[in-house]
Amino acid sequence: MDHTTRLQYLEAMGISVWLPRVTAEHQSAAESDDNWESLQADVAGCTQCGLCKSRHTTVFGSGNKNADWMIVGEAPGQSEDQQGLPFTGKAGLLLTEMLRAIELKREDIFITNVLKCRPPDNREPKHEEIESCKSYLRRQQALIQPKIILALGHVAAQTLLNTDQPIAELRSKIHILNNTPVVVVYHPAYLLRAVLDKRKAWADLKFALQTVKKN
Ligand code: URA
Repeated sequence: MDHTTRLQYLEAMGISVWLPRVTAEHQSAAESDDNWESLQADVAGCTQCGLCKSRHTTVFGSGNKNADWMIVGEAPGQSEDQQGLPFTGKAGLLLTEMLRAIELKREDIFITNVLKCRPPDNREPKHEEIESCKSYLRRQQALIQPKIILALGHVAAQTLLNTDQPIAELRSKIHILNNTPVVVVYHPAYLLRAVLDKRKAWADLKFALQTVKKN
């Protein structure tokens, strides 16, 4: 089904569709012949924002580069900054459990973050840090071509969807980013504190699973 027809169907079904301000067609010619080696090298040597001064290492992302599922979190924490891998701490353990509940293993998916460097003291990413890092996420999506993107938490959701709407309004819907459905799920670090919302996260995961099966 072509993009325009799919958008018409989704609209007719009352599903909100978010289109990025910059569409795939407008990406530079340089990005269209991008490859993993140059992207990884660009991230590893990045000095585009101040976080390069305090980071121990960059956290590019890990997993299957041909995955159907791309999972996007917020930013590396202390453990991730030390190990150079995403979601290695307590939130990572919960994420692994959440994925297991829908019969996915970490090696089946690609996991990354909006920011590739740790913000000091685990503070929230600043607007300018997100802006500096955004192109890496876009390039990852273009190389992976996932069937679905799961946005974990409000920072990932608002960045990918270019909105400041709260997560409660963004979840339970299919959004579209460069032809790819995006489903928003509560961040596992939040779920560790707000145990009662785990039920909603389970509903969101099942919703994401159905979305992939339909595509
Ligand atoms: N670890 C990550 O890699 N990302 C998060 O968003 C939280 C913990």
